[in-house]
Amino acid sequence: MTKFTVNDRPVQYRMDPDTPLLWALRDASNLTGTKYGCGTGDCGACTVDIDGQAVRSCQVTIRETEGRFVTTIEALSPDRGHPLQQVFAADNVSQCGYCIPGVLMTAAVLLKRNSDPSDEEIDAAITNICRCGIYPRLRGAIKRAG
Ligand code: FES
Repeated sequence: MTKFTVNDRPVQYRMDPDTPLLWALRDASNLTGTKYGCGTGDCGACTVDIDGQAVRSCQVTIRETEGRFVTTIEALSPDRGHPLQQVFAADNVSQCGYCIPGVLMTAAVLLKRNSDPSDEEIDAAITNICRCGIYPRLRGAIKRAG
């Protein structure tokens, strides 16, 4: 049995310890805001916050998550009131929206460390893939949210 904390609640998963965190979150905890895109660590759709780091949850097992603190998009803010969520909604930043939970979690980790990131710092931190190509709007939104 694997134990850790998800969105401030203790969880125990009776699953194969080598299960990717992504599938435990989605299938066992019904936290379906965390998306599956590639399963190979490339797209970032599955990004969650683990102990203050943006982590691609398809690339970490629940064994590796033991004892750690995980935050998913469902707990980024209690009322969708995080500055990033407010700016993304006000400025219609997203298009199809599929990648946005992972983008938001990655950007939130960036802004916690650096509330005034440069274009270069944003590009270095946000390596998430967006098939709609929202990148130009994304930079401006992250700066405003910061
Ligand atoms: Fe994890 Fe693409 S689904 S990086």
